Amino acid sequence: MCGIAGYIGPRNAVEVVFDQLKRLEYRGYDSAGVAFPVNGHIEVLKRAGKLTELQKLIGEEPRDSRIAIAHSRWATHGGPTNENAHPHYDAYERIAIIHNGIIENYLELREELLAKGHKFRSQTDTEVAAHVIGEEYAGGISLEEAVRKGVKRLRGAYALVVLSQSEEGKIVAARNASPLVLGVGSGENLLASDIPALLPYTREVVILEEDSIATLTTAGIQVMDLDGRPKPLEPIHIEWDIAAAERGGYEHFMLKEIHEQPEVLRQCIAGRVDDKLEIRLDQVFSEHVWTEIDRVNIIACGTAYNAGLMGKHLFEKLLRLPTDVYYSSEFRYGDPVLSPRSLAIFVSQSGETADTLAALRLCKSRRIRTLGIVNVIGSSIARECDRTIFTQAGPEISVASTKAYTAQVTVLTLLAMYIAQVQEMPGVRVEEAVQELVGLAERAEVCLKLEDQMIGLAEKYKDMPLCFFLGRGADANVALEGALKLKEIAYIPTEESPAGEMKHGPLALVQPGVIAMFGSTDREVRDKVVSSMKEIQARGGTVIAIVTDDDTVTEKAADEIVRIPGSKLEFLSALLTIIPMQLFAYHVARLRGCEIDQPRNLAKSVTVE
Ligand code: F6R
Repeated sequence: MCGIAGYIGPRNAVEVVFDQLKRLEYRGYDSAGVAFPVNGHIEVLKRAGKLTELQKLIGEEPRDSRIAIAHSRWATHGGPTNENAHPHYDAYERIAIIHNGIIENYLELREELLAKGHKFRSQTDTEVAAHVIGEEYAGGISLEEAVRKGVKRLRGAYALVVLSQSEEGKIVAARNASPLVLGVGSGENLLASDIPALLPYTREVVILEEDSIATLTTAGIQVMDLDGRPKPLEPIHIEWDIAAAERGGYEHFMLKEIHEQPEVLRQCIAGRVDDKLEIRLDQVFSEHVWTEIDRVNIIACGTAYNAGLMGKHLFEKLLRLPTDVYYSSEFRYGDPVLSPRSLAIFVSQSGETADTLAALRLCKSRRIRTLGIVNVIGSSIARECDRTIFTQAGPEISVASTKAYTAQVTVLTLLAMYIAQVQEMPGVRVEEAVQELVGLAERAEVCLKLEDQMIGLAEKYKDMPLCFFLGRGADANVALEGALKLKEIAYIPTEESPAGEMKHGPLALVQPGVIAMFGSTDREVRDKVVSSMKEIQARGGTVIAIVTDDDTVTEKAADEIVRIPGSKLEFLSALLTIIPMQLFAYHVARLRGCEIDQPRNLAKSVTVE
């Protein structure tokens, strides 16, 4: 989710690519760099921190070049330091590379290259990719050929861009899974990770297809596939204004982030599941630690707390490992009983939430093992936890969290399966579960196709006075998150509880006009959920049920049926119900004219108590 920029043409290329990076600033980043040729050598200037740091470095002497590439990094492999910032050289400093994505086999490749005598200056997967391509290039072939051969050795997601000292008149780029767009100008050409960085220069844009290599010169752009066969160039004309382009053409960041979830699910497991469907989280704690842990405490706020509840469900059901979930604000003042063999897990998108950070410090003062599940690398929680697993969801800009939630639950699922794998638990079919997790992104794509149906439901029910969110088991946990979305962006009161609790009080609130959104993905309790639906309907309420595609029971009971693709691991079906709920909340809020990305009274990162 890093920013990529590149320019070749008559203007001052260093100025152009810097301007492009500024236009990508809204996405968030923690370091930046630029590369351009000077006297037969590729000069690389890079700095951790904001673009102003890079600007100071660039400003130290006059910089003028007709060709340049630049990058703003959002750290994934290795912290946000000068060394880890892009561009990266190959072993011979003949080429410089920038990259967005994750090279899954970078550790194997790094070992292979180290054995051949390569030396690395950073901890990044990108530098490994640079050395791989540099090695091919040393064979005396063209830059395009070297990139084509090099990327065949890489596994994972990448958009990468290469500049060479010996072929100064071209930029070569390759793409697999991570976005890359090309800007077609007259006598000048550009590339970027996102359309807003192209718009001041051209509105003719080519979305580079998967598994393609592009060569940019002042004369034009050539695209080929990985076997070297030319591909046609099909530019599209972009009408959006710059602000709309930042949102990828979506009306709000929230909608963009909802739609990013399939990609986020892929990024989240990238490099963590190998070809044999084994989970690789070896860097977290050594294997023996997992056999010592007798209890888990998950500590978080808001959406991250809701993700923690899903973790508890899985840890207890799959691992039989006692797990409690605490609100950070309650934990820190609650004088918690902490077993010395327990593990405290801190879930946080921002990594800066004040209550969660204070709870972490409390655990550390009691010498409890701590593990972070965090999105922002270099954040306080990520730095202070003994170990951290990053959710790799990319910057989340909308205040209401969406993609961070699915990523947090995915990491908790990976972790639970990893513990089962390490402990060789009888009865847990890890491989089968991992297979289901790998297929989750595709099923998330199918859920996004429900948008038109959710718009229809939003139009019909946008004036509801109250909305219940109900379910059982994992569905009850997702119901909490669905309710949080609706209340925070559409300002509609919600009532959320396990469906079985309804008759112990909340049922008194049901009257005509009230809506009840049910997640019902657990075959074993389908009949019970149907009974709860009947209780709502008997009192004049309307039931919307989100069910899996094999369910023929619930459809007879609900007023509205939303079907999602089921998974053999029911827990994952429950997780996917959040996508139609997010879409429902979003469209209700939009139809009610609410300010979606920045709801009233709320902030993205709650760094005060
Ligand atoms: C809700 C939301 C908040 C955050 C909470 C924790 O949509 O975004 O409830 O989940 O403030 O924030 P992090 O995850 O940054 O610790």
